[in-house]
Amino acid sequence: MRIEDSVAFVTGANRGLGLAFAKELLGRGVKKVYAGVRNPKGVELPGVIPVKLDVTDSAAVTAAAHRCGDVTLLINNAGIGRVDISALDPSVIDNAREFFETNFYGIIRASQAFAPVLSANGGGAIINVLSEVTWFARPIMTAYSATKSAAWSFTNALRIDVRDKGIQVLTLHVGFVDTDLTRGFDVKKSDPREVAARTLDALEKGHEEVLADEQTEALKRSLSTERPYYLNPPNL
Ligand SMILES: NC(=O)c1ccc[n+]([C@@H]2O[C@H](COP(=O)([O-])OP(=O)(O)OC[C@H]3O[C@@H](n4cnc5c(N)ncnc54)[C@H](OP(=O)(O)O)[C@@H]3O)[C@@H](O)[C@H]2O)c1
Repeated sequence: MRIEDSVAFVTGANRGLGLAFAKELLGRGVKKVYAGVRNPKGVELPGVIPVKLDVTDSAAVTAAAHRCGDVTLLINNAGIGRVDISALDPSVIDNAREFFETNFYGIIRASQAFAPVLSANGGGAIINVLSEVTWFARPIMTAYSATKSAAWSFTNALRIDVRDKGIQVLTLHVGFVDTDLTRGFDVKKSDPREVAARTLDALEKGHEEVLADEQTEALKRSLSTERPYYLNPPNL
């Protein structure tokens, strides 16, 4: 997809990776960037149009898609997560229920609401922000990882369904990124600006999946080996 002159809608564009996407899109000459956010007053980036949106609220998602009828690129970025003590932590169930509303059902709601808009505008693209945890669940991220694996599965079905409508569907898989979500984690983190740039480069090349760091590339390669990471966890 050609990004210049496109009209983008980015969920959770007020901070973190979503904000990095919004900035990168503006730098690439998009016609418009809508920021789908829970608090429109918190959007400080000049040039973006705040749209009130909570992705857990079906009516709000539908209303946003009606209001933004010129969108050609949807970026499903909004996401939440917290650590679990382990897979045996009783809070995994409540955490999973909460995270699924945003990370899984939120992506489904927005994709279903905006696909007809993209289609009516001649096609376009949907980027779903997933993670390396799609393929490798660390016990301390049990609930969060399940949401990303489920969202990956949904995205794979979505891609098949919208291909003939001229909609390119791209998944982003990445390890730790330096945002509020990973504050306090003493690990190597990617720069959100680089992740956004790499993802949009991949979109423009027509790709359907982007692995945005070396660790995620190694993880993906491991899947076709006898002992993929999920059976033989490396010390990441
Ligand atoms: N950081 C990482 O290491 C990493 C790695 C792989 C994938 N990801 C994914 O990247 C995406 C962005 O995360 P981030 O790292 O930028 O985290 P972040 O800094 O915590 O930002 C999360 C964003 O999502 C928004 N959001 C959360 N729930 C929402 C809802 N119900 N409706 C609308 N917006 C909502 C937040 O809005 P508020 O400001 O209103 O809370 C915020 O803008 C997520 O999908 C995350 O899972 C992150």
